[in-house]
Amino acid sequence: MSSSVAIENAFDIGQVRNLFPVLKREVKGKPLVYLDNAATTQKPQMVIDGLVAYYSGYNANIHRGIHTLAEEATAAYEQARHKAAKFIHAESTDEVIFTRGTTEGINLVASTWGRRNISNGDIVLISGMEHHSNIVPWQILIEEKGGVLEVIPVLDSGELDMDAFRRLIQHNPKLVAINHASNALGTVNPVKEITSISHDAGAVVLIDGAQSVAHLEIDVQALDVDFYSFSSHKMYGPTGVGVLYGKRNLLEAMPPYQGGGEMIKEVSFAKTTYNELPYKYEAGTPNIADVISFGLAIDFINSLGKRNIYAHEKSLLEYGTSLLKEIDGLQIIGEAQEKLGVISFIIEGIHPQDIGILLDNAGVAIRTGHHCTQPLMERFKIPGTSRASFAVYNTMGEIDVLVQGIKKAVKLLI
Ligand code: ALA
Repeated sequence: MSSSVAIENAFDIGQVRNLFPVLKREVKGKPLVYLDNAATTQKPQMVIDGLVAYYSGYNANIHRGIHTLAEEATAAYEQARHKAAKFIHAESTDEVIFTRGTTEGINLVASTWGRRNISNGDIVLISGMEHHSNIVPWQILIEEKGGVLEVIPVLDSGELDMDAFRRLIQHNPKLVAINHASNALGTVNPVKEITSISHDAGAVVLIDGAQSVAHLEIDVQALDVDFYSFSSHKMYGPTGVGVLYGKRNLLEAMPPYQGGGEMIKEVSFAKTTYNELPYKYEAGTPNIADVISFGLAIDFINSLGKRNIYAHEKSLLEYGTSLLKEIDGLQIIGEAQEKLGVISFIIEGIHPQDIGILLDNAGVAIRTGHHCTQPLMERFKIPGTSRASFAVYNTMGEIDVLVQGIKKAVKLLI
């Protein structure tokens, strides 16, 4: 494929793979083919080394010590915030809150902005392709506050029904919460258009960026989103870290999330005043080591270039899609025009879990099941899918192994 040839020249895939120690291992006596990247990506050596360097060289609590180790740890932690802010083109590091991940970022907004702003009859508008983490926090909120959940339907193609969205927005929702890209289908949603239409209707917009940040260039100012939540572990960084981006005026107006050390200015039994941004939302000792290594994951992505990563994964998607479509009885779920490197499929007469087990025997890791998107599975009237999802280190050869594995499974199971 011509685009794949171009990308092989943009960076050396062998060199990229060499940076990931786990890719050298075998599973069931076969070379590992890791195609479960939408669940979590593997980690390059520099990210792993960052954790060891922190714990073996300058482990200390941050923002509160005057000794050398504390200063070094604080500087490294805040440097990661600078990298994250630049990575998404935030106007200021004050708008970058470190969280445990995408899910916590969404819960933070639900419990602070949501509790303050949603009341009886207010509408929260989500889409039919949301992950549970962008459904359940809103359900908890509206149950408590008496709000209403409305849902933009999904078309057979796996794209949002934008006509329905334009109708639903006329109900004047207070909040529109949508994923940038679907974990189960790979669909990339038109976030800029959705945000602009939502703002015209007076709604605040939250974007779940869990599946998009590792693949698409993100400019929160150009998109004009109010909140953008994402995780480190889906972009080659450690687990247990994420970012909630929020516009300064919203973050300043919202009540705090968790109470504790760091998020306060002054505490007395009569009254507590809160710290300035971003510390107001970072109560307690944070996940210092993982935040620092998350910064190294950002360096890794920047060293390859998002455009190159996107182009490579697009080639994998096109190649994989064309080969899988040739398999009798195989149906791809989700064929949006704008799609990331995710292929969800079902095979007539075979349970997705059986495919997953047989592929594991061939060393191939995919995810099977409902992908934490049960309403979406219900919409397609399926119990789940088998899902292969790609990252920068995957190769065309690995797609061939996947396809051979599926063909073998079909022969065995049908
Ligand atoms: N959201 C992650 C996935 O899609 C866990 O696998």
